Order: sequence, then structure tokens, then C-alpha cells
Amino acid sequence: MPRLKYASILRVLVILGLFCLWVQIMLSATNGAMEKDSEELMNTNDTSEQVLALVPPELHKYLTVHPRNATANSTERYGPKNVSDILRAIQRVNEAQTIYNEDIFGPVQNDTVIIAIQVHTRLTYLRHLIVSLAQAKDIDKTLLIFSHDYYDEEINSLVRSIDFTKVMQIFFPYSVQTHPTEFPGMDPNDCPRDVKLEQAIKLKCNNALHPDLHGHYREAKYTQTKHHWWWKANRIFNQLQCTAAHTGMVVFLEEDHYVAEDFLHMLNLLRTTADRTCPQCEILCLGTYLKTYQYHSNSDKRKKHLTLSYIQQVRAVSEERRKRQHDGQTWNYQVYPNFYSSTQKVEITPWHSSMHNMGMVFNRTVWENILELQDQFCAYDDYNWDYSLLHLSQNRPGREKFKVILCKGPRVFHIGECGFHHKKSNCNASTVISKVQKLLQDAKSNFYPSRVTATITAGGAKHNKKLTKGNGGWGDLRDQELCTNMTQVGRQIRKYIYYA
Ligand SMILES: *[C@@H]1O[C@H](CO)[C@@H](O)[C@H](O)[C@H]1NC(C)=O
Ligand SMILES: *[C@@H]1O[C@H](CO)[C@@H](O)[C@H](O)[C@H]1NC(C)=O
Ligand SMILES: *[C@@H]1O[C@H](CO)[C@@H](O)[C@H](O)[C@H]1NC(C)=O
Ligand SMILES: *[C@@H]1O[C@H](CO)[C@@H](O)[C@H](O)[C@H]1NC(C)=O
Ligand SMILES: *[C@@H]1O[C@H](CO)[C@@H](O)[C@H](O)[C@H]1NC(C)=O
Ligand SMILES: *[C@@H]1O[C@H](CO)[C@@H](O)[C@H](O)[C@H]1NC(C)=O
Ligand SMILES: *[C@@H]1O[C@H](CO)[C@@H](O)[C@H](O)[C@H]1NC(C)=O
Ligand SMILES: *[C@@H]1O[C@H](CO)[C@@H](O)[C@H](O)[C@H]1NC(C)=O
Repeated sequence: MPRLKYASILRVLVILGLFCLWVQIMLSATNGAMEKDSEELMNTNDTSEQVLALVPPELHKYLTVHPRNATANSTERYGPKNVSDILRAIQRVNEAQTIYNEDIFGPVQNDTVIIAIQVHTRLTYLRHLIVSLAQAKDIDKTLLIFSHDYYDEEINSLVRSIDFTKVMQIFFPYSVQTHPTEFPGMDPNDCPRDVKLEQAIKLKCNNALHPDLHGHYREAKYTQTKHHWWWKANRIFNQLQCTAAHTGMVVFLEEDHYVAEDFLHMLNLLRTTADRTCPQCEILCLGTYLKTYQYHSNSDKRKKHLTLSYIQQVRAVSEERRKRQHDGQTWNYQVYPNFYSSTQKVEITPWHSSMHNMGMVFNRTVWENILELQDQFCAYDDYNWDYSLLHLSQNRPGREKFKVILCKGPRVFHIGECGFHHKKSNCNASTVISKVQKLLQDAKSNFYPSRVTATITAGGAKHNKKLTKGNGGWGDLRDQELCTNMTQVGRQIRKYIYYA
């Protein structure tokens, strides 16, 4: 049957051709993603005069962008450049567990406040966060732990230049940067995000049988944040040697946050208030969101969503959800000073992911409760760490949802809202930062309150609604397994490394 044979050879050729084309597309997509990631290092010199005027001169050093030395040998000056070098450097730092400035500020105690800062690539914002931390009262009694998922010498030298308290760096070892062509980065054999199930099965791509609940396949870049958050918490509570006896509070911040000078004072006040009036409050919260611009002004939302990527769509939907919760109280800086009065208000309410995920604080006891239910976090099909934690909170056998105690006059602000996507508008870093600075100046006379009054609220109906399904993006079994694996690592002895 020559005709039949010919047809099947043709079919094989076509399939082979398609496969080659697909591999090419995948490879170019990977390259594109890498290029974009390194471009993302946000380190501009556009700090306005207005902002600088409100920063004490001795702190300007944290805002100064040093021009790259073009004449120097770049490999010498900027250290490791290829992946194997970076992996080795990361391993060395993680093993050494070096605490900078310990000799000046004393060792970590069991009640030292630990401030964990998750850092990606937004260096400009990180500079401002450091400036705000430098001005906080009692900052010299804390330990700052910077947790990085991107290795960059400029970020490292900024962090190591901090001289106002103890500092430690930890590096997320499963980053996209260090796994450019394999899981947890993007493997060439990973299923394209939008491919249909039947097609994926034919392609025999990785985990073809496990798209997320929206039928999409994983995107490495977007799973990284949840992995990093989980790894960081595990690392701090369960693995570092300096926290073996730690029972104090751990504050969770991100690179684009900004703190008020009395945030540690407020934290202690929240703690004592909770101990007295709300022993069941497991989470303390210092922050809230600034709403500086409209996400969807007047335009047709559906149409707008069509032009967004899948993850952006998911973000837009959660953003809208968050916005609806704030109905009737639009967050903007004009209304804030009302929250700062001589007797300040704190609120006790059920913890909700999107409202109480900034400047979140808890201790080891609470972490152990979370860890017991790690399945609820790791196996939940949502790429957001905060929604995963909400899911866990709502599914605690025999226990209530997490309660949070939060200050109504926020002490942590999100300055990174006008990130990459708003370059054209007037919404730049300097604009937001100078507004936060102004707000804090106006509120200054009401800082360091000696007492607070607590109100207990049940939270809105929407806010208490049980999550029925996640936002997706976390269907791949490898992600769920890696998440679980991270909890299996025990405490690691600090290795002293001597430099010649
Ligand atoms: C940034 O600004 C400072 C002071 O304005 C200047 O000295 C420095 O050269 C600038 N750096 C870059 C990379 O433009
Ligand atoms: C640039 O690098 C060269 C060679 O290492 C060095 O001599 C010079 O001092 C550097 N310049 C600056 C501004 O760091
Ligand atoms: C950089 O280093 C290499 C090897 O160490 C050397 O051959 C080269 O001349 C250096 N380049 C510059 C611009 O100093
Ligand atoms: C990475 O760079 C170093 C020099 O910086 C070199 O010795 C090493 O061979 C490189 N590794 C790879 C895999 O390219
Ligand atoms: C912390 O350490 C001190 C002594 O170093 C000890 O007296 C105290 O009981 C410890 N506190 C906790 C909560 O373990
Ligand atoms: C940790 O937090 C819980 C809940 O807020 C609290 O009950 C407990 O006393 C705290 N543990 C320590 C050692 O402070
Ligand atoms: C950001 O805004 C400030 C003042 O609000 C302005 O001086 C600065 O030029 C702006 N920067 C950019 C990059 O638009
Ligand atoms: C999880 O750990 C197991 C056992 O060490 C290992 O075989 C597996 O590859 C790990 N999975 C991931 C996704 O890292």
C-alpha cells in the first residue's frame, strides 16, 4: 500500500516540523523572559529634589546611584555573571549565615524583632525602604533579613552598606534567574500557557494532565513569588541558626514598602493590646494600601481585560475585588491624617488576604500552626501567597479563622503601586514617595501614641465569604511538590567561611 505509507510518512514529517517549530518558539520565549527579567532591575536616578529635601543628608548615600565603571573589568567589579557562578555565590552566602554589624549592635536575642524583606529587582524602591527604616526609632535593636530571588551586585552592595542595625542576606535557591531552562524556571518541554488539554497531551509536554483550574499551564515567573514567600518563612523560622531560640515577632515587608518612624513603637503597642484584649489575635498588621489611581476608569472592563495577559487578568480581578471591599472609603492620602489622632484606633477583625497582607507580623507559635496545615497552602490552586494563606485560615479544623489586630493609621505604606506599568503617567516613584513623606510629616505630632482604643468588627460579608476556588496558576504538581519539599529542610549549622 504505497499511498498509505506515503501518507503516514508525510504525517510524521508534519508532526516533526511542528515540534521543531514549537521548540524554537519555546526557546525564544525563554530568552525573552530572561532578557526582560534583567531589564527589570529598576535603578533609576530620578529621585526628585522634593524627595531628597525630606531625607536627612547622612542618608542620601542610600539613594545615590553609582554610575557603572565602564573602564573597570566588569567581571571583577560586578562579580559572578553566569548561572553556575551565581549558584555558587548563593550557596556560600546561605551557608555562612553572616550577620553584618552584629559586633556593633549585639547578638540576636530570643525576642529581637526580625524584619524580613522580600526583594526582587526594584532597587529604586528598596533604596527608599532602607531610608525609611534608617529613620525608625529602635531600629538598632532589630535584625533585618533581606531575602533575595535575584542576585545582583548592586543590590548586594546597597544591602551590605547598611550601618544602622544588624543585617543578614538570604538567597532563594530556586529562582528563575538561576534556573533559566529547567524547573522551577521554564523548561523547554513545559506546556505553553494557553495550549488546550488535548493538544498538551499530544505534545507530551511536562505535566500535560495538570493545567490550573482555568485550563492554563504554569508560568515560572508568576509562581516564583509564592515559592519565595514560603521558602523565606521556612528559612527564617526553621532553618537559620540564629533563630533557633527565637520566640519574638517577625515582620514581613517587601521591597516597595515604606515605614513610618514609630512603626516599632506601634508594633509593641499592638502586641500589648492583643495580649490584654485579644489573645486569639494571631496576626498583627501595620499597613494598608494607598489608592493613588483608578484601575479601570470609565472604560469597558471586559475589553480592557482582553488585552491583558492571563496573570494580569487575574490581578485585575483581585484588584477589583479589593476595591469593592473598600466601597465607601476610598483610600487616598488626603483622608489619612484623620486616622492619626491623639488616641489612636486599632481594629480587631478576621484576617483577609488582600487587605492585611502588608506589614504582617506573627511569631513562631503561629508559624507552627500554619506549617501543620501546609497542604492547604501548597496544594491550593492559587499563585498568590496571601490568598493561599486565606484558604488555609478558612480551613482550620476545629479552629476559627485568623484574627488580625491592625492600626487604622497605617505605619507601613506601599510605594510601588506605580511600577513599570505606569511609566507614562505622572505616577512615578518620586511622586508617590513625596506624598507619603508629606503625609507622615503632617501626622508627625500624633506619632508615638501612649495608648490605643480597640474596636472589634466582624468584617464585611464579602470579606468573610468562603473562598470557593483559587485564582489558578498553581496547578502544576511540581510547584506543589517543591512547596512541600521546602518544609522538609531542617536547621542548618552555620558554616564559617574565611576569606583569604
Ligand atoms: C545620579 O545622580 C547623582 C547626583 O545627582 C550623580 O552624581 C550620579 O552620577 C548619577 N548617576 C547616574 C548613573 O546617572
Ligand atoms: C574604575 O575602574 C578603574 C580600574 O579598575 C579604577 O582605576 C578607577 O578608579 C575606577 N573608577 C571609579 C570611579 O570607581
Ligand atoms: C580584563 O581582564 C582580562 C584578564 O584578567 C585582561 O586580559 C583585560 O585586559 C582586562 N581588561 C581591561 C579593560 O582592563
Ligand atoms: C562562568 O564564569 C567563570 C568566570 O567568571 C568561568 O570560570 C566559568 O567557566 C563560567 N562557567 C560557565 C558554565 O560558563
Ligand atoms: C529569653 O532568654 C532569656 C535569657 O536569655 C530567658 O530568661 C527568657 O526566659 C527567654 N524567653 C523566652 C520567651 O524564651
Ligand atoms: C505568639 O503569638 C501568639 C498569638 O498572638 C501568642 O498567644 C503567644 O503568646 C506568642 N508567643 C510568644 C512567645 O510571645
Ligand atoms: C517624577 O515626578 C517628579 C515630580 O513629581 C519630577 O520632577 C520627575 O521628573 C518625574 N520623573 C519622571 C521620570 O517622570
Ligand atoms: C522533592 O523532594 C524529593 C525527595 O528529595 C525529590 O525527589 C523531588 O525531586 C523534589 N521535588 C521537587 C519539585 O523539587
